[in-house]
Amino acid sequence: MNIDTLNDWKRSHDCGGLRAEDEGKEALLMGWVNSRRDLGNLIFIDLRDRDGITQIVFDPQKESKCHEKAHILRNEWVIAVKGKVVRRLNGQENKNMATGDIELIATELKILNKTEVPPFQIDGAVDASETLRLKYRYLELRRPKIFQNFKRRHLMAVSIRDYLNERGFLEVETPILTKSTPEGARDYLVPSRVNKGTFFALPQSPQLFKQLLMVAGFEKYYQIVRCFRDEDLRADRQPEFTQVDLEMSFVNEDDVMDIFEGMVRRLFKEILDVDIVNPVPRIEYIEAMDRYGSDKPDTRFGLELKNISDIVSGCEFKVFKETVGNGGIVKGINVKGAANNFSRKIIDELAAYAAEFGAKGLAWIKITDGPWQSPIAKFLNENEQKSIEKVFDAAPNDLILLVADKQKIVNQALGALRLNIAARLELVAKDNYSFLWVTKFPLMEYNEEEGRFQAMHHPFTSPLIEDMPMLDSNTGKVRARAYDLILNGVEIGGGSIRIHDTMMQERIFNLLGISKEEADIKFGFLLEALKYGAPPHGGMAIGFDRLAAIMSGADSIREVIAFPKTSSASCLMTNAPSSVDEAQLKELGLSIR
Ligand code: AMO
Ligand code: AMP
Repeated sequence: MNIDTLNDWKRSHDCGGLRAEDEGKEALLMGWVNSRRDLGNLIFIDLRDRDGITQIVFDPQKESKCHEKAHILRNEWVIAVKGKVVRRLNGQENKNMATGDIELIATELKILNKTEVPPFQIDGAVDASETLRLKYRYLELRRPKIFQNFKRRHLMAVSIRDYLNERGFLEVETPILTKSTPEGARDYLVPSRVNKGTFFALPQSPQLFKQLLMVAGFEKYYQIVRCFRDEDLRADRQPEFTQVDLEMSFVNEDDVMDIFEGMVRRLFKEILDVDIVNPVPRIEYIEAMDRYGSDKPDTRFGLELKNISDIVSGCEFKVFKETVGNGGIVKGINVKGAANNFSRKIIDELAAYAAEFGAKGLAWIKITDGPWQSPIAKFLNENEQKSIEKVFDAAPNDLILLVADKQKIVNQALGALRLNIAARLELVAKDNYSFLWVTKFPLMEYNEEEGRFQAMHHPFTSPLIEDMPMLDSNTGKVRARAYDLILNGVEIGGGSIRIHDTMMQERIFNLLGISKEEADIKFGFLLEALKYGAPPHGGMAIGFDRLAAIMSGADSIREVIAFPKTSSASCLMTNAPSSVDEAQLKELGLSIR
């Protein structure tokens, strides 16, 4: 069978556009055969393009040649149909389809292309394995629901650009072939042919370049930009991802946060017609850790952590007493009114889950009308029990879960348990958007393994002015002028006010154990630039894929990235990364061991 050529045929409508008002019009549609029902006499085709589906009817009584041709159509063939719009018979309307009131009676048909049998059905539920869907990603992208994610993502970028352009920001491109930027992941390296034995690094972010643009006097920069990080991948991490990256001069924290907050507020209004809380609440890092055990708390539900270290510091339960005695803490959460829903088996599962985060045990208390039901009840006197009940505002049928350990482990374990329990009890409404700023992160974090401090955000972040006197004496306690924006427990963005003074930057490198030589090799150009009248500046970057995924109700950022990589950082469609010719390696002065 030969396929037809388009010649002068032009589409008159897309497949989602025709309505009852169009009755009687001539229309010319093009698209893919989504499904077909051949009733021998009548043939029905659902014709699909990116905008929707229209029902086409081939009726032998009306156009016998056209009907004859339609017999051979199969799913996913590409066709063009001329026809007349008619209203469907009374009672045959399809309320689930935007075009469900009408159908097109075909008068002429062109077959523009055929197809091999697709490896999975385009129409219908997600059936095939993810491996297959990624290998044939272009077929999966044909699904109208997935296409909507990309349309939304595009509109998001438009809204963001409009907002920033209106405020005098300039979009400036920065290099992809560059030098390592310390954002905490491994670099992707690109060997240089011209200078054998040397490498470019793909940027983990444009951090240093945007700071240099501030030194250059650009004042307001933004870029919707690809970043590259070689790190362990998860549902919300890809090796290459997109940031909405921004930097401003002559600003403090509030200025940067206000710009981002306004941007996100407008975005949610324009894209989802959602009004987000105004102003977005702010809490300091230390409070976030204390109340939620996490620096990116999901605030759509309670289950806050309470500290009972003081109450149990002298109790008979050895684990608690000794933990507190050794500088650790005891904290817990109260799962209100849920004691009856949590059997011993479920509590054991929770304990096993907490253990994944380092907890050595999970003590539990079921509050009843009578005495506690709890393996630790016998170790706590009446006073201690009363005090614990008070802290947790306990009532019969509450379940209190407790962890004793070093502060870091307690927070990690209870923070994770909190999310686990909220998921089990379905405490989180999916279409509720809960924003939160977390501010004043610690500037540095002690790395026990390496025996040195490391930057919590990146080494260009400014310490809080009032904490500067502690830089040498109490380094770990110094807070940073850094902030993260959290949405539903996901870190969607982060930034800081930067150091714009060479002396301070050198001092911070020193505290981070970065020698003068190392600093010169790695960031010499930045240190140099700071000497030439760098203005005070700061900025932030949002993970655009993460935001798009949340706004699309997607479980993974892969659903909003056209050609994503697998969790083992490869592309199943192109088979990248792949080996290269010996000649290519030779040219680069490389050999594979
Ligand atoms: P940061 O490293 O916090 O900051 O990155 C900003 C945001 O980017 C998103 N993100 C990712 N998204 C998908 N896959 C990844 N692998 C990935 N890694 C990060 C997160 C994160 O909040 N230069 C600084 C910003 C600044 O200080 O201005 C930076 O890159 O949502
Ligand atoms: P044991 O005396 O070891 O049987 O522990 C009694 C209860 O205390 C059990 O429910 C343990 O899970 C719990 N437990 C043990 N260690 C800890 C800990 N570090 N934090 C919280 N609970 C613990």
